[in-house]
Amino acid sequence: MAGEDARAASLPAHLSIVVPCYKEAANVRPLVAALDTALVGLSWEVIFVDDNSPDGTAGVVRDVASVDPRVRVIQRVGRRGLSSAVIEGFLSSSASIVAVLDGDLQHDESALPAMVRLIAHDQADLVVASRHVEGGTNAGLANAWRRWLSNSGIRAAQALLPYPLSDPMSGFFAIRRDLFQSLLPKLSGAGFKILLDLAMSAGRDMRVAEVPAVFRPRLAGESKLDVVVLLQFAMMIVDKLCRGYVPTRFVAFGVVGLIGVAVNLGISTAARIAGFGFSKAQTVGTIAAIFADFWLNNTLTYRDRRLRGVRMWGGLVVFTLACSLGGIANIGVARMAYATFHHWDRSSAVGAVIGVVWNYAIASTLVWR
Ligand code: GDD
Ligand code: MN
Repeated sequence: MAGEDARAASLPAHLSIVVPCYKEAANVRPLVAALDTALVGLSWEVIFVDDNSPDGTAGVVRDVASVDPRVRVIQRVGRRGLSSAVIEGFLSSSASIVAVLDGDLQHDESALPAMVRLIAHDQADLVVASRHVEGGTNAGLANAWRRWLSNSGIRAAQALLPYPLSDPMSGFFAIRRDLFQSLLPKLSGAGFKILLDLAMSAGRDMRVAEVPAVFRPRLAGESKLDVVVLLQFAMMIVDKLCRGYVPTRFVAFGVVGLIGVAVNLGISTAARIAGFGFSKAQTVGTIAAIFADFWLNNTLTYRDRRLRGVRMWGGLVVFTLACSLGGIANIGVARMAYATFHHWDRSSAVGAVIGVVWNYAIASTLVWR
């Protein structure tokens, strides 16, 4: 290493690139090599945030890091989540500019210097690599269904944002670290869409710029986007619309509760058509709804405290008891309200709200501690 390079390596990094990764072992070395080529002349470091991948991704990063001081890894144990991984990566850096890049080589790292320059020259606070401006492409999305999903998400997000962003769902962007730091208390941190989370948390005065980027097809490993990720996306939007007045978890719990009502109606109707009597059909519907709600809360609302094995069955028993008591409380309160106000709908609503609050309190304290 020449004298100048040695000094540069000992300086705190000017740019930190955070790479969220789960099961990307085969992509680590090619990615570091690609960054090395793309970022010539910049002082940079790369922080891989791995959620204890079973394929040994973190070990591969450590091997690379042992000979390259610009590389390091945060290995999280017992946690999952793309957005929270990115947030923790940013927090572990002291660089003045931070960027995110996927760990699967789908993002074109050669866009990075232009992104960094816009921030370094104080022309923008946030720079997004967009697939939807002149010169960008979306070729890497696996199929028509993924493209449709992506485009629908983009339209929904654009309706909510105060800025003209052509690609609010991009997972490739750079931001001034002090701006990130100031937005931190407002972030939901759930799901896949950290950029949208940031953009919806920022004020109108944030200066946003876009650079074109090519979204490449994935070569190794597989996408982690699934139904749960989509539900988390919907919840983050609801959470943002509630503007932080209601805790995210409570919103999620409420949405899951509504899904439970739909399951109850669907199953009990099906059971009645299949020839069950009214009470039997109602019982089957209620049990199905409780199971569905428990499963959804376990995989979604309380994903970070997920119960497994014996503890899951114990949790299901407590949850069922709590919901039954919640139902009784619901009816009791609604009756009292009806006796006082003589208003059918409002009394039911009051009962339902008390029931949900009760269930939520028990779930958060006794089931998912
Ligand atoms: N630490 C961690 N934890 N990393 C994760 C997790 C997780 O739970 N889930 C996914 N990742 C990592 C992946 O390993 C990959 O490096 C990156 O996050 C993106 O995940 P993919 O599973 O490859 O996502 P995708 O290709 O479907 O979606 C990409 O395209 C979207 C645009 O359509 C992502 O870049 C999105 O951020 C982007 O918005
Ligand atoms: Mn990908």
